Amino acid sequence: MHLTREEERTLNGEDGETLQKAIEILVALGDIYGADKLIPIKSAQIAGVSYKTIGDAGLEWISDLNGKVKVPAVLNPAGMDMLRWEEMGVDAEFAKKQHEIVAAYEKLGIQTKCTCTPYYLDGFDVKYGDHLAWSESSAVSYSNSVLGARTNREGGPSALSAALVGKTANFGYHLDEMREPVIAVDVDCELTGSDYGALGYLAGKTIGSRVPIFYMQSKPSKDELKSLGAALAASGAVALYHVEGVSPDAVKLNYERPDETLSVGKEDILEVYEKTAMIGDEIRDTDIVTVGCPHCSPDEMQKIAAMLHGKTLQKEMWVCTSREVADRHPELVNTIEKSGAKVVCDTCMVVSPAANNFQCMMVNSGKALSYVPSMCKVSAKYGSIEKCIEEAGVLDEN
Ligand code: F3S
Repeated sequence: MHLTREEERTLNGEDGETLQKAIEILVALGDIYGADKLIPIKSAQIAGVSYKTIGDAGLEWISDLNGKVKVPAVLNPAGMDMLRWEEMGVDAEFAKKQHEIVAAYEKLGIQTKCTCTPYYLDGFDVKYGDHLAWSESSAVSYSNSVLGARTNREGGPSALSAALVGKTANFGYHLDEMREPVIAVDVDCELTGSDYGALGYLAGKTIGSRVPIFYMQSKPSKDELKSLGAALAASGAVALYHVEGVSPDAVKLNYERPDETLSVGKEDILEVYEKTAMIGDEIRDTDIVTVGCPHCSPDEMQKIAAMLHGKTLQKEMWVCTSREVADRHPELVNTIEKSGAKVVCDTCMVVSPAANNFQCMMVNSGKALSYVPSMCKVSAKYGSIEKCIEEAGVLDEN
């Protein structure tokens, strides 16, 4: 791999130990995957934030680092709402460690907005062709597929290293040839809303880590593409997908149809709605409903607020979003919370230990359906946003 003189100096430790460690990680990855050089990135999004997932070893590693990031960098969701963790049922010891982790990242100049949808934040706008080092799988999928940017599915340490150096190794989805579709997915029915998450949940299992191109009858919105990509990345390991006539690379580059085809019909989609991903043999009643995986967009918050307006819920319901989106729309937060639902910021139903306190969760996200049983040991059911609200038990107008 070719390094500039300045990069060589950093690798030799002349810019300090933290930067040396960081560039060593980037060069090692570049060597493994055949990169020719390091390339500048526009921003970084860093996973490895929840104390539930990184524990004391992760906290110690981050705390030992010094210096400042060279590009705008932001964190993935933490294990709790950083302000309202007690209301979520998170214990004080966990909260203390979580605050220490976020503070350690902040010392490095990283913005402590904890979200998997950084593309809604001020200062993290993404343009077609931008090179990024993002790590949360749905954010990677959205930036590559819906925004036409270029990022690999970075691990926490490699995204942090890229943020500190301001560069990443030039391989994988940064290169044109790695972005071409290799499997066609024919969707033989009209889809709407959570059908896209169901499609991703199904198709990801067959596609694995390959790049698919979807041929669809309906034209998905950006929020629908967000849930498709999140589910594809969770049930498979898809970091980039195309939709014929819709996604930017497919429109600009007019890809040839790949030879291999996967067909999905209405019955396949309906099966996802009927399935309960169970923990143990016992069918459990839903005791929590969560939406906002990935974190809600302003439009989704608006839609949920309109549906909850004047209602009172009987069961626990979390609406997960970023603090910045919630802060921009206090009137929507107010309407949602008047119903008894909680607007949960900085975290989500998968990475917070508070989710483990429940028995069965209804979700409208194919990604959450994949991860809630394995990561929270909680049974999961799938439903549209309307069905989720109904399942939360709507009482008379409040
Ligand atoms: Fe985001 Fe958590 Fe889902 S990180 S994509 S809300 S699992």
